[in-house]
Amino acid sequence: MPVPPSPLTFPTVVTTLRAAGCVFAEDEARLILSTARTPAELTAMVDRRVDGLPLEHVLGWAEFRGRRITVDPGVFVPRRRTEFLVDQALALAGPGAVVVDLCCGTGALGAALAAELAGVELYASDIDPAAVRCARTNVAAAGGRVYEGDLYEPLPAGLAGRVDVLLANVPYVPTGEIPLLPAEARLHEARVALDGGADGLDVLRRVTAGAARWLASGGSLLFETSERQAARAVATVTGDGLLARTATSDELYATVVVGTKAPARP
Ligand SMILES: C[S@@+](CC[C@H](N)C(=O)[O-])C[C@H]1O[C@@H](n2cnc3c(N)ncnc32)[C@H](O)[C@@H]1O
Repeated sequence: MPVPPSPLTFPTVVTTLRAAGCVFAEDEARLILSTARTPAELTAMVDRRVDGLPLEHVLGWAEFRGRRITVDPGVFVPRRRTEFLVDQALALAGPGAVVVDLCCGTGALGAALAAELAGVELYASDIDPAAVRCARTNVAAAGGRVYEGDLYEPLPAGLAGRVDVLLANVPYVPTGEIPLLPAEARLHEARVALDGGADGLDVLRRVTAGAARWLASGGSLLFETSERQAARAVATVTGDGLLARTATSDELYATVVVGTKAPARP
C-alpha cells in the first residue's frame, strides 16, 4: 500500500512553530525539514520543538564556527558568543599546540580549534557522562581524546606542565539567577552545566587554582565570563599567579579572560 505523504509541508511547519511561539519559525522550519530523514521523524521533531525543546536538541546538532557539532539531549548547547573565545585561543596557539578543553560539554571549542589549527594535540574532559559521550563524537572526529571526571582529575598525569592552551568555558551563572534563565536552558540543559555557585565563580576558582600546574611556560588559560563578573574573575586569575587580561566583543556580547603563565627565565 502506498505510504500517504506527510501532512507537514514548509508552510504548515512554519505555522505550527509560529503558533508555539518560535520567533524564527521560518528559519527553524527550514532546518527541521532539511534534517528530518522520514515523515515520521519530521512529525516527531516538530512535536518536540512545540514542546519547548531547544532547536539544537531537536536537530541533534548546532552550528559552531561554521561546522556542525553533535548535541545530545541534556547537553549544553554551544553558544555563538563562545566563538569569540576560540578566536582568542587561535591568536595564541601555534601549530602542534597541546590543547585541553576542560568542562568541554559537546567538545565544540576543542574540536573547532583542532579543525582550524594544524597538528593540535587535543584532550577534553567533563564531569557529566552525557556530555562525555557527546564530546567523544565531536572530539574523536578532530583526533582528540575525551575523559570523564572532575576538572583536571581524569587528565593523563603526563600532561602537567605541557598545556599551551587551556580552554575552560565553565558554568558561571550564579545559583540565584538560574530561575531567571530562559526555559530552554533551565529545563533542557543539565544543571551542572549552568550553576556556578553563589557568585558564579565557584568552578572557575578551582580551575584557576590548578592552572599553573598544567600550563606550559607561556601557556594560557582562557574562559568566558560576564561583564559583571570580569573584575572578580581577573582577580582570581592573578591571585593564582597568572598574568591576566580581558578581551571583549561588542558584536557577540562576549567577555573572555586570558590568564598566561609567565615564561620561565632563561
Ligand atoms: C557552560 S557548559 C560549557 C560547555 C562547553 N565548554 C561549551 O562552551 O559549549 C559547562 C560544562 O562544564 C561541565 N562541568 C561542570 N562542573 C564540572 C566539573 N567539576 N568538572 C568537569 N566538568 C564540569 C558541565 O557538565 C558542562 O558540560
